[in-house]
Amino acid sequence: CLRVCRPHLPRGSHRCGYRRTYFKSGLKKRAMFTVAAEQRRKAQKERTDEQRKMEDELKDPRTPFEYLLPRPLRLTVLGASAASCLIACLIGAAHLASEPSLAKADGGLQTLGVNLVGLLLFSGLFAADSSSAERRIEKRKRIREAQIEFGDREVYVNESGEKMSKLKEVDDDWILRRLERWGRRDQLPLVGPRKGAILQDLVREARPKTVVEVGSFIGYSAILIARALPPGSRLVSMESDLKFVLASKRFLWQASQGEANKAREEPIGKKVDVQWGRAQDRIPRLDGPIDFLFIDGRPREYLEYLKAAEPLLSPGAVVVADNAGVFADGGLKPYLEYVRTSPLYRTRFVESTFEWRDDIPDGLEVSEFLGAPGAQSGSSSAAPPYRQQTSCSHRAVASARTRARRRKK
Ligand SMILES: C[S@@+](CC[C@H](N)C(=O)[O-])C[C@H]1O[C@@H](n2cnc3c(N)ncnc32)[C@H](O)[C@@H]1O
Repeated sequence: CLRVCRPHLPRGSHRCGYRRTYFKSGLKKRAMFTVAAEQRRKAQKERTDEQRKMEDELKDPRTPFEYLLPRPLRLTVLGASAASCLIACLIGAAHLASEPSLAKADGGLQTLGVNLVGLLLFSGLFAADSSSAERRIEKRKRIREAQIEFGDREVYVNESGEKMSKLKEVDDDWILRRLERWGRRDQLPLVGPRKGAILQDLVREARPKTVVEVGSFIGYSAILIARALPPGSRLVSMESDLKFVLASKRFLWQASQGEANKAREEPIGKKVDVQWGRAQDRIPRLDGPIDFLFIDGRPREYLEYLKAAEPLLSPGAVVVADNAGVFADGGLKPYLEYVRTSPLYRTRFVESTFEWRDDIPDGLEVSEFLGAPGAQSGSSSAAPPYRQQTSCSHRAVASARTRARRRKK
């Protein structure tokens, strides 16, 4: 029976599926194991497809414009337009040469001129588009080489003997260390390990179902938040710059690899949805309540983000604003005034230091949303319990840096 039936089963299902069927002789059991094997194969295929997508994209020089009108289509339209102008020019010129007076009276000269301009324009656009693609390929090549040097990519030879490179399958610990190293070296505006640890504690304490982050940048804080989220919770991270959307997706993908992640029910990347767009416009389009809001976008716009999210905040939601120390007298002033005086919030300042600097005080403004005005029970009438801190303006940051430099000298 085994020998006869095995060929009918999909590969992989024989051993676990059919043998048990044989012993238990139950059709239902057999179907169950066959389905399990099918699902395993599907998951494996999805993983390979995803991996292939992340492999060397050198042959795919895409720009943001690409998403509206793909390059092959664009080049075809430009090429066809240039070719039609050329043909019209040739016909017009032949006509003019054979019967000059008649063709001139017919407006032949003007038509020839228009077609010549068209020819120059379309062929120029065609050439510019092709050369910009070449430049992008060159730039990508340099980035790839830097990534290989940094240990992000590994080189391999594909089936056709071509030298390719692909992102290394690392894990969340590795990626966080790598981003911190990069952040410290280039002074990137990441939340940093110190404030990041406070943020993670706040997320663990709040156990939110839905978290919204404003400003993904390269996904550092998104990885930290996702690591602290309870199972089944989601993070929607918003970023207005497409190149950072792509970068954060890339690092989130890498952070989801590795043995520990594969064993997890939900790898880091599965918990995070990075959305492209201005947070002020995107937040109102979200459905469902927001239980935790992390604001780390443009300082002057913090209040706009909060106002956009306010109708969706669930009672007891936690709102955390980064850089509430360094920008307290600058861009964050209206935001801090609002949360510290509004009866809708109970707010406190959690002290820390500016990312990558021990000598510049900074911190997070942590505000609890007490509910919509109608839903308040009067508990918010108490004075807001925030502690006033020594806050720094841009100028204060600059002078602190100068003082530190002098001290070093
Ligand atoms: C300080 S960085 C975010 C750092 C990140 N949270 C981290 O710790 O890894 C600020 C980011 O906000 C983005 N941004 C600025 N204005 C925005 C807006 N209106 N909506 C969404 N993102 C915005 C910027 O492009 C930038 O990438």
